Amino acid sequence: MAMLLLFLAATTVAAPLTDPRAACPKYQSYSQTLHQPLTKGELQLPFQRPAPICRTFTSPAVEQVIKDVTSRMKDVDLARLFENAFPNTLDTTISWHVDGLEKKDTTKPVRKTPNQYFFGSRGNWNGAQSFIVTGDITAEWIRDSTNQLQGYQALAAKDPTLKNLILGAINTQAEYIIVAPYCNAFQPPFPSGLGAATGGPGDTVYPASDPSFVFECKYELDSLAHFLKLANEFYGNTKSVEFLTPRFYSAIRSILNVIKQQSNGSFDEQGHHVVNKYRFQRQTNTGTETLSLNGIGNPIKGGTGLIRSAFRPSDDATILPFFIPANAMISVELKRMANILTNSEKKELANELTEIAETVEQGIRKHGIVKHEEFGDVYAFEVDGYGSHILMDDANLPSLLSLPHLGFVQADDPIYQNTRKMILSQSGNPYYLEGREFSGIGGPHIGLRHAWPMSRLVQAMTSDNDTEIMNSIMAVRDSSKLGLIHESVNVHFSAAYTRSWFAWANSVFAQTILDLAKRKPHLVFGMGSEPYTVLDAVSSR
Ligand SMILES: *[C@@H]1O[C@H](CO)[C@@H](O)[C@H](O)[C@H]1NC(C)=O
Ligand SMILES: *[C@@H]1O[C@H](CO)[C@@H](O)[C@H](O)[C@H]1NC(C)=O
Repeated sequence: MAMLLLFLAATTVAAPLTDPRAACPKYQSYSQTLHQPLTKGELQLPFQRPAPICRTFTSPAVEQVIKDVTSRMKDVDLARLFENAFPNTLDTTISWHVDGLEKKDTTKPVRKTPNQYFFGSRGNWNGAQSFIVTGDITAEWIRDSTNQLQGYQALAAKDPTLKNLILGAINTQAEYIIVAPYCNAFQPPFPSGLGAATGGPGDTVYPASDPSFVFECKYELDSLAHFLKLANEFYGNTKSVEFLTPRFYSAIRSILNVIKQQSNGSFDEQGHHVVNKYRFQRQTNTGTETLSLNGIGNPIKGGTGLIRSAFRPSDDATILPFFIPANAMISVELKRMANILTNSEKKELANELTEIAETVEQGIRKHGIVKHEEFGDVYAFEVDGYGSHILMDDANLPSLLSLPHLGFVQADDPIYQNTRKMILSQSGNPYYLEGREFSGIGGPHIGLRHAWPMSRLVQAMTSDNDTEIMNSIMAVRDSSKLGLIHESVNVHFSAAYTRSWFAWANSVFAQTILDLAKRKPHLVFGMGSEPYTVLDAVSSR
């Protein structure tokens, strides 16, 4: 996402002279040059981690996993990619973190500490907070940051600093969602002292948002689902309910409010047009960067059970607003959250979430599946409830390819398998791109010559076929000559890429290797190897 906004990247406040990090190079340029030592492998991949003093967060558990995994891996270039990619979010994107711990010391009189700020409509920054930039832009995307942290979730139960980092990320995302639930990307929290990224495109958005709080306000249903996912994974791994604060419940209310508003059709019972609560217009010559019909987007039918999304996880506008992958994801995450709330004596709220989740799921089964002449019954990418549908897939998560990864279907679900055949073929998916040097799914965001490595990683994680898995992993390896995973690469000339510093893609690569280490260790560690999980790392210490 957001590659088009690259030129907006702004630097933050000058570090005080005493800050030992003042001399650290900007990772944006650091990531574009090769650093020693190179591997002795075929690709001679560079070591791209910043110097220890320049890393934005460190975790002994993460270092242990890097040692364990890279020492077992047979392919030294793949091992180097893991070594660079797994810690990339910690190394480079934790722009601000406070642990919020002094607040809990009730023996001392209450005083204003740097961890206690209340800004009303600009957020209530109490407790642990974590501001996590996407990479080359000094802003936090809800979706990206959840995915950036995903690889560390399993370690959070064992490493208290990681646990606090993720707890902080939940708290920070909750503030963003309470204040601006329709927005996708956010400025640094005020107490961080980091300057807001400037030069925003001057969008006309309703409900209006404060540009010193919000970086971009594209309404993407999957952002809300990703907020729930961050908390659900945290609970699943730590069994901690520390995130269930009054602010968290306010964020849930905010989400439910958006869902209610965005489940309504474009016409009321009398057939009168109902103006949508959310509108977005940008001055642009790129069709996917703004919404048609005065900022509302194309019409939808009411009562389908589906929820509208104005934009996709690529940050491109939807063509038909019922975007199926995000509907699938939110139905899964609402159910998981309902489970937590049931265990926490919040039965009524839990029931409300379960009911929405089931309604959405039924909506997908009824309106989201279409008959294709060549592939049979398949999931549509987008529908409008009137019968129109878009058949394609885009590399960004959530995607149709990722449906089993999201937990919406089993990988052997016949409709998913039909869909998979369709979206991994040029005859079924206009955005499946094949070239001399790379192939995979791309999307309108970068265009018809660029496929995204992330799609090959998801292809590997959703496959049981060793050949398909290794073809995918090797294609990604060979397109990552800077030692990091790109956003997209030109399928005919893979040296032409977008984004050298894209933390989300690095995180998905590391997750894929860890998935294989557990599920198919012979593929990454060699024949006869034992399965490895990250908890092996911390339990042996
Ligand atoms: C949904 O539409 C109905 C009219 O059809 C309206 O009464 C109701 O307020 C709308 N709900 C929301 C949350 O916008
Ligand atoms: C496994 O994947 C390879 C490469 O994509 C393909 O040629 C082969 O037919 C697949 N095998 C099965 C059993 O599907």
